[in-house]
Amino acid sequence: MQPNERSITDNYDRTDLEETILTAYENAGKDPATLTRDDTAALDEFHIQGRDATRALADLVDLQADDRVLDVGSGVGGPARTLAAEFDCDVTGVDLVEEYCRAATMLTERVGLEDRVTFQHGTALDLPFEDETFDVVWLQHVAVNVEDKARLFEELRRVLRPGGRLAIHEICAGAGGSPQFPVPWATDPSISFLVAPDELTRLLSDAGFDERAWTDTTAESLDWFRGQLERAASRPADASPPVGLNLLMGPETPTKMQNVVHNLEEERIEVVQGVLTAPESD
Ligand SMILES: C[S@@+](CC[C@H](N)C(=O)[O-])C[C@H]1O[C@@H](n2cnc3c(N)ncnc32)[C@H](O)[C@@H]1O
Repeated sequence: MQPNERSITDNYDRTDLEETILTAYENAGKDPATLTRDDTAALDEFHIQGRDATRALADLVDLQADDRVLDVGSGVGGPARTLAAEFDCDVTGVDLVEEYCRAATMLTERVGLEDRVTFQHGTALDLPFEDETFDVVWLQHVAVNVEDKARLFEELRRVLRPGGRLAIHEICAGAGGSPQFPVPWATDPSISFLVAPDELTRLLSDAGFDERAWTDTTAESLDWFRGQLERAASRPADASPPVGLNLLMGPETPTKMQNVVHNLEEERIEVVQGVLTAPESD
């Protein structure tokens, strides 16, 4: 394990996550035997703006049918399933947290996408894949936990074919000072490694990537998060817990969400999406 990986795993790990998810569906009156991707949408896209952000990034990277995609830090697999179901790609997910990989596989089988989407346990800093294996590498809200970004980007480039594309959706440091914790990606600062957007682009460039598109999505991220808070506040007090990211973020979910809104409002964090390409071979 790399430094910090035990703490990062502890931040995300939820004991018996598969069972917790299935029980939550039952309690919400949904038969877990007949799950659809609509049922999983609120739970399985563990990043700002949910499935809409995944679709926007897929458009930005000009995803093509049959692209071989590697989703690095794939969580419980929502983005991977969206890319397979809506863009006709083959997707491999890799994540540090075994419990997430198991839940991702279970949800994928339940919605019938196991022929196109698989998951395996591993670290982004030593990816278990041969050189030049993928057409597209996908990274959503993962660099936030990686201190050694030079090594991360070197690994991403290694597994991309020459001319392959990197799609990135990350949270960056803002000018307003250090974020308030806890946040969804870190209970405390020891596993949060945000850099400013220009530092992120410099690190990507140093790793040999060429920038093709870059967009700041901070304003729409704040709108989306405020909407999430309003929806949570309007739930009846006696309603059963929603089947949503609360199952991944745990009991501190309300505080984590409030803190993201404060951090966005106070410009302590920014959100970016970008597309970069690996060099063509000589
Ligand atoms: C905020 S979640 C995002 C999950 C997913 N990308 C999504 O958007 O739904 C961050 C994920 O990155 C994973 N992660 C963090 N550091 C990692 C590393 N070094 N290698 C692999 N996965 C990592 C975590 O386990 C977690 O699943």
